[in-house]
Amino acid sequence: MIKRKNIIKVAIDSPAAAGAGTQAKLISKHYSLLHLDTGRIYRYVANIKISEPNKFNYKYLKKKINNLKISSLSNKKLLSDEVATVASIIAKDKIIRKLVYTFQLKCAYNPPKKYAGSCLDGRDICSVIMPDADVKLFITANLKTRAFRRYKELKYKNKNISYQEVLKSLKNRDKSDKNRNISPLKKTKDSILLNTSNLSIRRCFLKIKKIIDRKIDI
Ligand code: C5P
Repeated sequence: MIKRKNIIKVAIDSPAAAGAGTQAKLISKHYSLLHLDTGRIYRYVANIKISEPNKFNYKYLKKKINNLKISSLSNKKLLSDEVATVASIIAKDKIIRKLVYTFQLKCAYNPPKKYAGSCLDGRDICSVIMPDADVKLFITANLKTRAFRRYKELKYKNKNISYQEVLKSLKNRDKSDKNRNISPLKKTKDSILLNTSNLSIRRCFLKIKKIIDRKIDI
C-alpha cells in the first residue's frame, strides 16, 4: 500500500456515545482531514448479517468490503441500536477484523490528495490501525451521560426506545468491547485522555485543537 508522506494523522478511541464522532467531524473539517468513523464499517457488516443472512459468509463480505465506498457508510439504517448490538458481536471475529483492516489503512495512510491527512475514530485506532498517529486521543464520559446523549439522539431520529434500554445496551457493548480477546477497547499509554462528561462540544474541541496545533506546530 502507498503511504502518503507528510500528512496529519489523528487517531481517536472511545467507548460508544462519548462524543468522539462529533469531535472527529469537527477536527476533520477544521484541518481538512478525511474522516472515517470506523464503527460504521462494523455496522455495515452487521447490517448485511441482519438483512442478508443467507449471503453472510467471508467470501461475500470480502467482495462487499473490497467495493466499499465511504459514502455507503452514511446509510441511515446503520444507526439503529439493533445494528450496533450485532456490530459489537461480529467485531469479535478475527477474520472480519482482518477484512476491514485494509480499508481502514487506506483511509488512514493514503487519503485522497485534496485532504491534508486523516482522522479515524473507533476502538482500536491508537493501538492497531494508526499506532504512529501524530495525535492520539482517548475520549470518554461516564455511562449515564453517554446513555442519555444516545437516548436523545435516537429519540430525535424517532426511534422507539427507552432510556433504560439504551443504558443496558451501552453497558453490554462496553463490556463486550473492553473484554474481547482481539483488539479490545483500551487507552494506550501514549494517548491523551479527555473526559467529556462535563465538557461542552465547543470546549472539548478547543482543547483538542490546542493539542493538535502544538503537535503540528501551527
Ligand atoms: O462506534 P460504533 O458505536 O458505531 O461501533 C459499533 C461497534 O463496532 C462497537 O461497539 C465495536 O464493537 C465495533 N468497533 C470495533 N472497532 C472499531 C470501531 C467499532 O470493534 N474500530
